Amino acid sequence: MQKFKVTPWNVEGDVDYNKLIKEFGVSKIDKNLLDRIKKHTGNIHLFLKRGVFIAHRDLDVVLDKYEKGEKFFLYTGRGPSGHTHLGHLIPWIFAKWIQDNFKVDLYFQLTDDEKFLFKENLTLKQANDFAYENALDVIALGFDPKKTFIFTNTQYAKTLYSLALEVAKKLNFSTTRAVFGFDNQTNVGQIFYTCMQTVPCFLPSVICRKNIYCLIPHGIDQDPHFRISRDVLPKLNYYKPASIQNIFFPGLLKGGKMSASNKNSAIYTTDKPDEIESKIKNAFSGGKETLKEHKLYGGNPDIDIAYQYLKFFFEPDDKKLQKIYNNYKSGKILTTELKQICIEKVKAFLFEHQKKRQEAKKKINEFILND
Ligand code: TRP
Repeated sequence: MQKFKVTPWNVEGDVDYNKLIKEFGVSKIDKNLLDRIKKHTGNIHLFLKRGVFIAHRDLDVVLDKYEKGEKFFLYTGRGPSGHTHLGHLIPWIFAKWIQDNFKVDLYFQLTDDEKFLFKENLTLKQANDFAYENALDVIALGFDPKKTFIFTNTQYAKTLYSLALEVAKKLNFSTTRAVFGFDNQTNVGQIFYTCMQTVPCFLPSVICRKNIYCLIPHGIDQDPHFRISRDVLPKLNYYKPASIQNIFFPGLLKGGKMSASNKNSAIYTTDKPDEIESKIKNAFSGGKETLKEHKLYGGNPDIDIAYQYLKFFFEPDDKKLQKIYNNYKSGKILTTELKQICIEKVKAFLFEHQKKRQEAKKKINEFILND
């Protein structure tokens, strides 16, 4: 059995999600819950259908309240250590879908402080500049400016800091150490940081002076932070935040997630068409060594990166996807052909995205919170 390790800052090995769900103590999203969501949305998002979002905490509670007329708000975020890649978009695209269907606010946190503290060679200025770049990607997805509030931790510090102090006072070192595996060499900023990530779970409750439920769409690696939030918030008389958690978007190389710190593993939203093309051409494939073998025995779509990208979101049509799967498995489509399908889809998506990203520059002030 292969070993794996998942922390908010590092993912190693081949992740067994069933094991991870048990280890983290989160709940699997089951058919029952999907049906409940569908009651409100009419359809079920591709990410739910295809198992991209697999786990949650208290989503059922949020729905109970919603059905009784109590609205929730969304919270998600991004650590601005570089440009946005395709994997980052997953929880954001999903948040947009929830916003549209439930007509709820979204608070989006850009943690330049976190990335400065955790990345050896990143300056605060660089993290802050990337926060701006990343915000453009968020806005490009089409969020409603009246319902979407984006802020960068150092720029919105006056509001956030006093609330982070409330959290810090209820959290001791032994808990953070146990949750994150810190040791005596850990810098003290890192120990404090999780308090900043908890603040948006109750920020709207502070602003509106009443308790509001919080739902966080996020990559499953961030769960440790929100375990702390769930522990602390009741002590401050706020609701525990709920969450809905996605699996990792595969990187271009064999195994592992798409990671901004490994340039070869990622397709960035700012990549040019020729970069997209050459990256996907070099991606790990499930094809056989030789053409002859491939035609004879077929390829393995389950480990093929181009196929995985189509499955995650680039081929929304289930029938077409199934056909590609069957044809690749039987050897009818070659790896170069499969990759070409993926290249076209990703190029088309990013072409549109980059146009909207450009327009976002003019709109950014409508979204940003400053104090
Ligand atoms: N820590 C996250 C990262 O490294 C950024 C983040 C802040 C976040 N708040 C969040 C992610 C809420 C998901 C949900 O990317």
